Amino acid sequence: MKRVLITGVAGFLGSHLAERFLHEGWEVYGADNFLTGQRENVELLAQIPHFHFEEKDVRFGVPFPRTPVDLILHFASPASVPDYLAYPIETLEVNGRGTHLLLEHARQHGSRFLYASTSEVYGDPEVHPQPETYVGHVDPTSPRGVYDEAKRYGEALVLTYHREYRLDVRITRIFNTYGPRMRLDDGRVVSNLLVQALQQKPLTVYGDGTQTRSFCYVDDLVEGIYRLATYEGLEGSVVNLGNEEEIPILELARTIQSLVGARLTIEHHPLPPRDPKRRRPDLTRARTLLQWEPRVTLREGLTRTLKFFQAKLGVPS
Ligand SMILES: NC(=O)c1ccc[n+]([C@@H]2O[C@H](COP(=O)([O-])OP(=O)(O)OC[C@H]3O[C@@H](n4cnc5c(N)ncnc54)[C@H](O)[C@@H]3O)[C@@H](O)[C@H]2O)c1
Repeated sequence: MKRVLITGVAGFLGSHLAERFLHEGWEVYGADNFLTGQRENVELLAQIPHFHFEEKDVRFGVPFPRTPVDLILHFASPASVPDYLAYPIETLEVNGRGTHLLLEHARQHGSRFLYASTSEVYGDPEVHPQPETYVGHVDPTSPRGVYDEAKRYGEALVLTYHREYRLDVRITRIFNTYGPRMRLDDGRVVSNLLVQALQQKPLTVYGDGTQTRSFCYVDDLVEGIYRLATYEGLEGSVVNLGNEEEIPILELARTIQSLVGARLTIEHHPLPPRDPKRRRPDLTRARTLLQWEPRVTLREGLTRTLKFFQAKLGVPS
């Protein structure tokens, strides 16, 4: 049985990935320190055979140090804007020192290593859509720089281990992803709007709402990551994963309004500093290397996510 170590397993993406690898017949070793993750995700996974968990801060040591694994998925890191602004040092360290410790572990045991990077490495991009060859437009001095630069440093470390030690590494740059198991209070636009809608509160839109984002449903993302992690011959690859369908935030709010079916108002607030105006992945590389394509429409994905949020908030559907 193949073994995978997943850091950040109590989080949104980590828990979905763990579930997928368990269903594919892997032995899953998960670790988390619950900084932004949820214990209930681990409790859910613990019901599936071949799942093991260690509460561990990966900035200070490797989980399951005596268990060599075939693959490491390094997903531990605060991810939403309010989370990394609340934990700036932790964010820098888990992507810096944490990544370094895990890479060293991978080198000692010959494990394949997949690093969760982000579209934020492109900053406020001047090129649309963003291909992996675009080097980005990031301000290291802005508060958001902690996340963007932490991930850029993480990427540099990962690729250095590939060049210096021929370690089999892969990097995915993940664009906005949503779905069940997002925290209701994680501060991401989809969760904010869904919670406001279900609580019959005005929907907050920053600026005039013409800024666009693309949203990827979690099942599509997990499929892409599974392929990137398991396909042969992808050593050293950096691959964007996300959804190409670009939508203005105002339209997202209106879609949620129509799904919830209530008469909700939209309230405009000032744009936060350094908020990117546009962000959209170029998925050519993912299509070519992984034969992957996002399949779930925004309406369908939002409907599934809404059901999860309704259950969480105890709102009848
Ligand atoms: N969700 C997205 O849209 C998105 C987009 C781009 C990149 N990513 C990346 O994917 C990864 C997972 O994101 P997510 O959306 O699941 O976020 P999340 O906050 O739900 O999960 C992150 C998990 O990492 C854990 N963690 C943080 N620091 C840790 C540490 N030092 N030691 C052990 N565990 C630690 C948290 O407790 C949490 O469970 C992150 O690396 C993030 O940067 C996510």
